[in-house]
Amino acid sequence: MWRSSLTRASKVTIFQSRAAVSSFRNASTVSPSRMARDPNTLSNYASWLTKHTTANLRLDFDKKRLSGSVLLEFESLTNKESDEIILDTSFLSISSIGLNSTPAKWDLKPRSEPFGAPLHISVPNGASKGDRLMVDIEVETTDKCTAVQWLTPAQAGGKHPYMFSQCQAIHCRSLFPCQDTPDVKSTFTFNIVSPLPTVASGLSIATKPAEAGETLYMFEQKVPIPAYLFALASGDIATAPIGPRSKVATSPSELEGAKWELEADMERFMEVAEKIVFPYKWGEYNVLILPPSFPYGGMENPIYTFATPTIISGDRQNVDVIAHELSHSWSGNLVTNCSWEHFWLNEGWTMYLERRIGAAIHGEPQRDFSCIIGWKALEDSVERYGADHEFTKLVIKLEGEDPDDAFSTIPYEKGFHFLYYLERLVGKDNFDKFIPVYFTRFSGKSLDSYEFKATFLEFFTSLGDPEIKAKVDEIDWDEWFYKPGLPPKPDFDTSYVDMCYKLVDAWKHKHYKPSSDDVKDWSANQKLVFLEAVERFDPPLSPQRCQEMGAKYDFLLSQNVEIKSAYYLVCLDAKDKSSYEGVAELLGTIGRMKFVRPLFRGLNKVDRDLALKTFKKNEDFYHPICKGMVEKDLGLTS
Ligand code: BES
Ligand code: ZN
Repeated sequence: MWRSSLTRASKVTIFQSRAAVSSFRNASTVSPSRMARDPNTLSNYASWLTKHTTANLRLDFDKKRLSGSVLLEFESLTNKESDEIILDTSFLSISSIGLNSTPAKWDLKPRSEPFGAPLHISVPNGASKGDRLMVDIEVETTDKCTAVQWLTPAQAGGKHPYMFSQCQAIHCRSLFPCQDTPDVKSTFTFNIVSPLPTVASGLSIATKPAEAGETLYMFEQKVPIPAYLFALASGDIATAPIGPRSKVATSPSELEGAKWELEADMERFMEVAEKIVFPYKWGEYNVLILPPSFPYGGMENPIYTFATPTIISGDRQNVDVIAHELSHSWSGNLVTNCSWEHFWLNEGWTMYLERRIGAAIHGEPQRDFSCIIGWKALEDSVERYGADHEFTKLVIKLEGEDPDDAFSTIPYEKGFHFLYYLERLVGKDNFDKFIPVYFTRFSGKSLDSYEFKATFLEFFTSLGDPEIKAKVDEIDWDEWFYKPGLPPKPDFDTSYVDMCYKLVDAWKHKHYKPSSDDVKDWSANQKLVFLEAVERFDPPLSPQRCQEMGAKYDFLLSQNVEIKSAYYLVCLDAKDKSSYEGVAELLGTIGRMKFVRPLFRGLNKVDRDLALKTFKKNEDFYHPICKGMVEKDLGLTS
């Protein structure tokens, strides 16, 4: 089964691995990323490389548009082999383009779904290898822009409007023309004019008064970053310190709560991560708490992690999201997957670092507890896709696919489990020595899984320890990379979950009489483990038992949306009609896809009319990405 042979996949890996090994050996002279290995960009980035991007953009809250100019500095990677620069765009309005300060010939080709419309800019006679040229593009976003959500004052919960961007995975192309691939990294200058306080994924260097009472906000990002890490947010934002290098930004009325939630952990998370990898390279690490429609738990935009307000739960129980986004400062933001086919390198490594931070602070059993929760999420994802599905592999094929459609827990948890397996194979002390070597080797670069493999093998074979060499020789890389379905399940320390499963067993008996003491002193995660196990009951709980559980354990009084939504999923499974309105109400207050999508799927199963009505009522509240996903989940689009 797990060890069965995968002939075709094996051939592919062996071929690619050899290429990777040789590129690793030649690493000091030849950059390994010089073939276009990202299938989700239409840009010709093997011929031209973005070195610096200057975004001069004005935020127009009335028209809900970004407009201005983007100045791109390119380096020619070939010797006059290419006489055009092709950039990614999606639903942009482009008015003029200059090449080295003279008008350029350009053509915006038809859309090629799901990747947008390639923009061809002619470079007469091409350029010699190493030559630099400047492209200046006048651009405006349109109402079809998928990267930005514009919120009315009411939606933003105050007197002012709000806007924020979300570019991962391939949405930067709907902000401005760019090489929208994680295989290309550029430094950035941001000159943003807005009537409201603005943050970006660069360090703030100055603010200056602009016309009509607006302000020019200037930022620099001197560490090269891929386009998906370009980020902006603007609204009624105030900041407070949460550590010596960190602040939290949110609406003034939420500031105190947000500060309390994060200040106890921020700096120690950073110190632990620095000990595991190497010192933090970005200067500041700040957190922006977004309005409730933010579609993710967190997004690792450099300098400012963007985070859902659901982490401000008043109990400091959701700070693992911050440990996760902070970890991306090394895995993802410095060392980047070269395409979304190798997304596990970003997210698997980040889960690994997040759990190491948790273990350093709360002890090793805490790491196992988090692993158990993750394993359950992995099982659910594999079950939903089907155990043979392409997207249940670690390295996936994304040709012609929208990476957002492949998004799931699998790269996170299968990626984590691969690294955890490697850690146990070579021993934690040895693995600890490998971590900074790997992150140093690829800092500022993008890589694929084969380069990871080559680096790992080189490190552990060069240790000169025959026992370790024998162990790493046994790793079945092809199976880990290409075998669909679940990987082998490791043994976990169950000390945190035993009591949860004991209570789950008790609930399997119809006559169990619950008491509020059952879950007294439980952490939010323990309650979640319990609820997720109950959700798997077959047959499900009866509606009465479900209500009894909610009432005794106060699940609906919780400020923690994780708990509320997990309980509602149990209710929907139990077909407890009395809960449906509550589900619909919750769906009008949060836009984080982790909650919204399962709740809609569950509601759709038991009351399609209400699901559709709830979606219609709230569709403008949801972020365009979330809206698109729910439309698919509800069968409204394919
Ligand atoms: N980078 C991701 C979010 C993301 C992934 C956005 C792919 C768009 C496309 C972020 O780091 C993340 O993993 N967020 C998680 C946090 C969790 C694992 C702690 C989330 O949003 O739930
Ligand atoms: Zn992540």
